[in-house]
Amino acid sequence: MSRTPLVAGNWKMNNTAAQGAALVEQLFGQITGVSDVEVIVCPPYLAIPKVHDQIRGTQVQLGAQNVFWKESGAFTGFVSVAMLVEMGVTYCIVGHSETRGRFGALEVPESTLGYFAETDETVRLKIEALLAHGLAPILCVGETLAEREAGRTDAMIEAQLAGGLMGIDEVELHKLVVAYEPVWAIGTGKTCETAEAERICGMIREWLGRAYSTEFADQVRVLYGGSVKSSNARELFHQPNIDGGLVGGASLKADEFAAIVKAAL
Ligand code: PGA
Repeated sequence: MSRTPLVAGNWKMNNTAAQGAALVEQLFGQITGVSDVEVIVCPPYLAIPKVHDQIRGTQVQLGAQNVFWKESGAFTGFVSVAMLVEMGVTYCIVGHSETRGRFGALEVPESTLGYFAETDETVRLKIEALLAHGLAPILCVGETLAEREAGRTDAMIEAQLAGGLMGIDEVELHKLVVAYEPVWAIGTGKTCETAEAERICGMIREWLGRAYSTEFADQVRVLYGGSVKSSNARELFHQPNIDGGLVGGASLKADEFAAIVKAAL
């Protein structure tokens, strides 16, 4: 089964609307003519409208970094799926370790961790809401360093998959993308060894095959994320079970991100 590679840039809390528009403009210059790779940028919410205007008619698609699952209501500070749809967003990251409050490199005061209180249940509610509006979820899973050292990597990832997808059926999930992001590799410069990243992405695909069907598992894109850069992207993206990357820091420079996109060819 051949899957179209996908490279998504997660800008996190970087780039104003003007900076984001300038970044995508530079990016186009470097990836025109690159087909066969799906390219997504995930700007902060406020930059989405301007970036949307800029990418119209190009191969670059828009992703959001988060969403709230309710349709509307008294939810101060949150953004609904319908609001993303109106802005031309087609993908949305769900369950990123930073929204789960599981930080690798960043120091965040213990008392503020409740602010990042994503759980497997909120992940599932968000995935359901996205699917109901035809958006593709990018479900992030991954272990912390302590979990890896305790030999709990595979169990953690399986628990995150089971919790995030529980009760959602295969037909609804056809747009699902899964990103394996070891928390200890995010923003730290430490990439997971290629063989280990491939093993885990293969394990994710096997889990999907057991929970759903092998046909379904074969068509789901599984990405690797965590300190992806142009120097390691090609080797990672050419593993049998790695279909591209979710890229943070290296997506903030047009030439670096363009090189990563081309590495998926
Ligand atoms: P990084 O982030 O590439 O800066 O490590 C990846 C991510 O958090 O998606």
